[in-house]
Formats: sequence, C-alpha cells, structure tokens
Amino acid sequence: MTDPADAVRPTVAALETIVSLAKRRGFVFPSSEIYGGINAVWDYGPLGVELKNNVKRAWWRAMVQERDDIVGLDAGILMAPQVWVTSGHVGSFADPLVECLACHQRFRLDELPGAENLTQTELADPTIVERLGLRHAEDGGVLTPPRRFNLMFKTFMGPLEDEAAVVYLRPETAQGIYVNFRNVRETSRKKVPFGIAQVGKAFRNEISPGNFVFRMREFEQMEMQYFVRPVEGARLAFEEWLPRRRAWYEQYGVAAERLRFREHAPDELAHYAKKAVDIEYRFPFGWKELEGVHNRGDFDLSRHAAATGENLEYFDPATEEHFIPWVVETSAGADRAAFTFLLDAYREEEVRGERRVVLAFHPELAPYKVAVLPLLKKRPEIVELCHRLVDDLRRDTMAVYDDTASIGKLYRRQDEIGTPWCVTIDVDSLEDGAATVRDRDTMTQERLPIEGIRRAILDRLAAARG
Ligand code: GAP
Repeated sequence: MTDPADAVRPTVAALETIVSLAKRRGFVFPSSEIYGGINAVWDYGPLGVELKNNVKRAWWRAMVQERDDIVGLDAGILMAPQVWVTSGHVGSFADPLVECLACHQRFRLDELPGAENLTQTELADPTIVERLGLRHAEDGGVLTPPRRFNLMFKTFMGPLEDEAAVVYLRPETAQGIYVNFRNVRETSRKKVPFGIAQVGKAFRNEISPGNFVFRMREFEQMEMQYFVRPVEGARLAFEEWLPRRRAWYEQYGVAAERLRFREHAPDELAHYAKKAVDIEYRFPFGWKELEGVHNRGDFDLSRHAAATGENLEYFDPATEEHFIPWVVETSAGADRAAFTFLLDAYREEEVRGERRVVLAFHPELAPYKVAVLPLLKKRPEIVELCHRLVDDLRRDTMAVYDDTASIGKLYRRQDEIGTPWCVTIDVDSLEDGAATVRDRDTMTQERLPIEGIRRAILDRLAAARG
C-alpha cells in the first residue's frame, strides 16, 4: 500500500534553488568562505540573521511570553564535564561510523544505501557490514565494521591541555536546564507543572553533516523542559505539547500537508527517552525531523541528584508528596526551523509573462517588514520624503530604503526577500501627501496618506500576529 505522505511534494525540487537564493540575497553564507570554507558551519548574512532572530522571537513569544507556567534561562555552553558523564552523553551519544578501506572516507552507517532501515541493534552489530555485503558506492572499497563515534566536541579549560582539563561544548541545551532546575524553581516559585525554556548554541561533531543548514556541526536549539508529576502527568503533557508544537509551525505559514508526526521505534529511542515523536517536514531531500517531543521520564534529574548528592525532588503541598518530576521536552532547531520557513515560503509564479520569485513569509518572520522606494530618485523632494518615512518606520520595525534600480526591479527584489509591503513615493505624493502601498502576495496597490502609513503597517503586523 502506498503511503499518502509519499505523494507530498516539497516547495522546491532542488535544494540548490534555495541555497543559491540564500547566498545571492544575503541569508546564509558558507562559513570562512575566503579560506575555502569549513565543513558544516554556515554564517547568517544581513537577511538571515533577521529571519533567524524573528524565528527565535516567535518561539520565545509562544513558549515564554504568552505563558504563565514557563520561564526562560540562558545557561553556559561550557558546563562541568561530569554533567555529560551523568547525562549519559559521554557513554551513549554516538553514531555508528564505518570507514572505506580504499579511500578512507568515513560514513554514518545508517545513511549508506542498503542500511537506511536497519534497527539500532543491527547498526551496532559488528558483522552487519559483511553480512549485508555493503561497499563504498563510489569506489567499491571494503567498509570496516561499525564503531561507535561520540559526537561531542572537546576542548580544554585553563592553561593545561591534559585530560583533567577536558570540557565539552554542549551537544544539547537541555542539560543547562536540569542543572538549574532547583535554582529556577526556587526563584520563580513555580509549581509543577511548569517549564523552563532556553535558546542557544549546541555543537555536534556529526559524521555526515549536510543538506545546507539541515545538519551542521554548530547550530542553535530552542528547547523547553516541562516538569510534571510522574507517569500520568508526563503522558498528558506529551499529548498536549505534540500538537501544540506542530500548530506553531502552521501558525507561521508552514503548509499542514508538509508536516507529519513520526514515532520512534523502541530501539531507536535516545538513551534518555521513554517515548519520542518527531515532527517531520517534507524537505527537498525527503521527510526529515524538524523538532522532537520527548518523554524523558525522571532520567536526567534522578541521575544528576544521584551524581551530586543534591536533593532535586519537588514537594507538592497539595498532596504532601515528594517526587522527582518527570520531564516532557520539546526540542527544536532554530536553524532547521528558519530553513523550513524559508523553504515553505518559496513560490515561483508567472506574472504577465515574467517569472516572479516570492518568499511568502509570515510578516512576523520576514526580515524587512516594509520597503520604501522612490519612483524618481533624481527628485530630491521625493528622496527626502522617503527618508523621513523610513526613519519613522524604523522606530518600530525593520524598514529599508532602496533606490538602486527601476521600480519594477525593486518590487521583484523585495518579493524575493519576502518583504510583505512596499511603499512607493512618486511625484503626486508631493502634491497629495499620499503614497502607494503594494502588497507582496496579492500585488494590489492602494493609496494611503503618508502620515498614516506607519500606523497602517503596524496594524497589519499586529493583525498577522493574531
Ligand atoms: N535535547 C534533545 C535533543 O537534542 P535531538 O533530536 O538530538 O534532541 C533536537 O535534537 C533538534 O535539534 C532536532 O530536531 C533538530 O531540529 C536540531 N538539531 C539536532 N542536530 C542538529 C544538527 N546537527 N544541525 C542542525 N540542527 C540540529
């Protein structure tokens, strides 16, 4: 039987379309490009940093600002190294690595053709490569048996570079939340159920990074740990958070049909998880994880309590019980989310015989909300009016002035970077004090008094926010 999800098409057939737009328009650049680049690290350009900041702000708004039961945190990237032993990452945060004996290239076993559907048990089996007769597809080289490759980056703290000075760059932000659990609960006086949210960098020495910003070695996570009563509390919280997190992507414009849930098989679960469901998106390279919702039980808090001897129990005054809270985690990648919004906003249309490329971003996510354009840049009075308006708009929102092309080209340029509204000031504006406001999606134009434009744009932004 065919899965209906197989019929869902991505917004662009070729990833290269987005990669080149992102480079050309200043969203994302290869890192250290003038040195030939560094694998799996990407830099955000002027528009990319706006997009990603807007994504993080929208997440914070939904997860902290609008909720009475969730507070924020910003913990260090470097943590006591013992944290990662306790959390299980030193022992278990590893992928199966194989090496081609002919060319010495290394691969993640589960990404090789013929090994994609292996279970975790099979992936750990030292005889699996030989049994399946797997070879390097390009040169036919013999592959080694899989070995566990730990994904954590190490560095040294202090002036001595010895084993005692090893610290890790965090591979997830979640542990910063667990080790601060008691501090945050006591200072915020929150009662279970409550959550702690954090946005920040994470690092993984991925064996096979790729697909642009989908899998990087340095990336950002947006994670929330929701502390609940054991067992039933976690079951209920999981059922609530899973659809809520999916709805967040839809609220900001991702088409429902390009999202789906996928539950992890028991032997696929991360070492800390009792249950995990991925929210997947239909990327040009297939259905892939966008965000994970995990029931982590009391795994982390119990282990940190045991390792430190600290009491991380919660006392419930209503039932007079002491217990270690269970945790439901929502774990999203800020880069992967920004990439998804970028992909899903992409449209190619034909308008009066010409190709129009549009990024139909939700206005909250668009890098610029409004562009102010002069119809005639040779008329100083028009240019001055434009500058006055753009300065006025900038007090509240991201606005840009552009006079470097004809008006038709300027519109196309703003369409391609997803600016929801363009304001054009022309010769008539000097007489009637009005300007033309053009809508990106409908391309309709309306004449509005210049002095009312800032209010009109802010009202439209508020309406889009809902
Ligand atoms: N705290 C749980 C955790 O880290 P995960 O499924 O390993 O769970 C959560 O990661 C999210 O972080 C993923 O859904 C993805 O959006 C993002 N992510 C993970 N590894 C990534 C990478 N190498 N590059 C970019 N984003 C990544």
